[in-house]
Amino acid sequence: MKDFKTSIVLKDNRTASLRLLEKEDAVALHSYLQNLSAESRGRFGPHPFDWQTVEAICNSLPGDVLRFIAEDDQQNIIAYMLVKNGMISADKDRYHQLNIFLDETITGTNAPSVADAWQNSGLGSAMFQYILNYMKNTGYKYAVLWGGVQTLNARAVHFYKLHGFTQVGSFLYDGKDNLDMMLEL
Ligand SMILES: CC(C)(COP(=O)(O)OP(=O)(O)OC[C@H]1O[C@@H](n2cnc3c(N)ncnc32)[C@H](O)[C@@H]1OP(=O)(O)O)[C@@H](O)C(=O)NCCC(=O)NCCS
Repeated sequence: MKDFKTSIVLKDNRTASLRLLEKEDAVALHSYLQNLSAESRGRFGPHPFDWQTVEAICNSLPGDVLRFIAEDDQQNIIAYMLVKNGMISADKDRYHQLNIFLDETITGTNAPSVADAWQNSGLGSAMFQYILNYMKNTGYKYAVLWGGVQTLNARAVHFYKLHGFTQVGSFLYDGKDNLDMMLEL
């Protein structure tokens, strides 16, 4: 998997290149995260966005999370999507309450994000489809969402449905309604 790089052609013919995050990407990733709008940050939060966290992530790759990035032709990061091996404990607890017991060795937890200026361009779908295919081809059987998805995040709910995810539960977090959605790959 290391050193792979692939190209994505968007609906408007712009291209983006897709690869895994590397140690040298810390500055670019930090800048990507800092530049996300307040709305996007409120919806995507698998880890803090401060420099110390980003540096620690880049210094301890690969870890148990696959971190895909897309870049524009100036090598700016324009999307960052995570696949964690297994599940985080809060998600697992909710699934257990729903009587859903997933084998964590074949479950991946997804957290996708696209830079605001590139949202709605088809980049998210093309990249996410690549990632789901990758998961399927490498033995994952289930995909779940990292912390669910906010019910009011209509674009993301639509996006997950488009990729075959179905709702398995709902929960309140931080005063907001959320959905748990999963996909059998
Ligand atoms: C969710 C996200 C990853 C999707 O990536 P993207 O590049 O914007 O998505 P795409 O352009 O590939 O597809 C968006 C789809 O949503 C649709 N859409 C856009 N706005 C919508 C809305 N308000 N309600 C419903 N659907 C909407 C688009 O029409 C498109 O669907 P289509 O292909 O059937 O036409 C991206 O928008 C993002 O990073 N959002 C902020 C962070 C976030 O919410 N992450 C998910 C956390 S659970």
